Amino acid sequence: MKKKVLSFLLAATMVMGLATGCGSGAPASGDAKDSGNDTTTAEASNDDSSASGDIQVGIVLPTKDEPRWLQDQKQFETILGDAGFTNQVLFSQGSSATEKTNVETLISKGIKVLIICAQDGAAASAAVEEAKDAGVKVIAYDRLITGTDAVDYYVTFDSFAVGAAQGQYLIDNAPSGSDIPLYLFAGAATDNNAFIFFEGAWSVLQPKVADGTFKIANSSEAEALQDKAELSREEIGKIIGQVTTDWDFNVAKSKAEAHLTAVGSDMKGDVLVLAPNDGTARSIADVFASDKDVSSYVITGQDSEKASVQYIIDGKQSMTVFKDTRTLAADSVAMAVDILDDKEPATDSTYNNEKIDVPAKQTAIVVVTKDNVKDALIDSGYYEASEFTGLE
Ligand code: BGC
Repeated sequence: MKKKVLSFLLAATMVMGLATGCGSGAPASGDAKDSGNDTTTAEASNDDSSASGDIQVGIVLPTKDEPRWLQDQKQFETILGDAGFTNQVLFSQGSSATEKTNVETLISKGIKVLIICAQDGAAASAAVEEAKDAGVKVIAYDRLITGTDAVDYYVTFDSFAVGAAQGQYLIDNAPSGSDIPLYLFAGAATDNNAFIFFEGAWSVLQPKVADGTFKIANSSEAEALQDKAELSREEIGKIIGQVTTDWDFNVAKSKAEAHLTAVGSDMKGDVLVLAPNDGTARSIADVFASDKDVSSYVITGQDSEKASVQYIIDGKQSMTVFKDTRTLAADSVAMAVDILDDKEPATDSTYNNEKIDVPAKQTAIVVVTKDNVKDALIDSGYYEASEFTGLE
């Protein structure tokens, strides 16, 4: 049997978050300095391209090595640059120490607002506490920073909806029968989002495991908890401990290989794979595709990375979740502008970070499959059709 990803005829599914989160686009502020865009992509804090100081908004992103964060960088550059705000983007390159130095550099350049996507949600608390002490307002971007009261706002996609959409896709596109092998993979345990994505996926997958439709293939911890609809953070942590990819393509690949080696033939055939994001999905899909005893697989993802969009067009990845970074960046910039204008930014929810309830603004997500890829990603202007091959 020729192996191919089962994508079936699921129509374009729109999953709405708790709020619409439509960004206000380019902000206008009477206080905006006219010195324009000063964005850099320095990995470390010793970049001195902004040595003249007078940076209004500092942005710190986790890594240049994942296309996801380059999408966000591009949006910040466009939006802040167009609006004439002085700003600087620094990358932490997977290191909490570099992240902290980056924050210190930006503080020394006089930023009033810090927009930060933490490398490690708990470790980042020290950096944002320094920012708070320096009178800087802190916006946690995409990933929540935990265990501190030094986070003023949180701008995020609806991460529970992301996980629920991934789980629901597997359910809607599963082969018929019972005991269908279900492989679970998760993000990094240092990222609060990894817990929320998993919680969302579990909320829809668990009943299907409990009733015997699906059979968990690669986590004894998840199997032991399969009759529990709601898991504590500690319980999710135990499962993540077994199935984490660390958000790393290589870890994802070796874990998928090890898990396929460990199972018997009853856990092969037509299988389902919960992959937490696009980068890990491509690695895991390649491993499943090369196992001769896996006849078909349905696999999830998120981020709509270009390479995964091509995988979807080619039938190698089943779905992705489109998180429109244009909206997220615009929302955080709009928030920063309100702060610079001494206005209270609009929020629509709160997230508890183990210390305080952080006022948050959530953005909806969209499920993308082969059926709606053109509509969601090309017609919306996110990508150009010419960036892909085989697009109908
Ligand atoms: C983000 C995802 C991303 C992952 C790995 C998460 O916090 O929400 O979009 O794929 O980190 O970088």
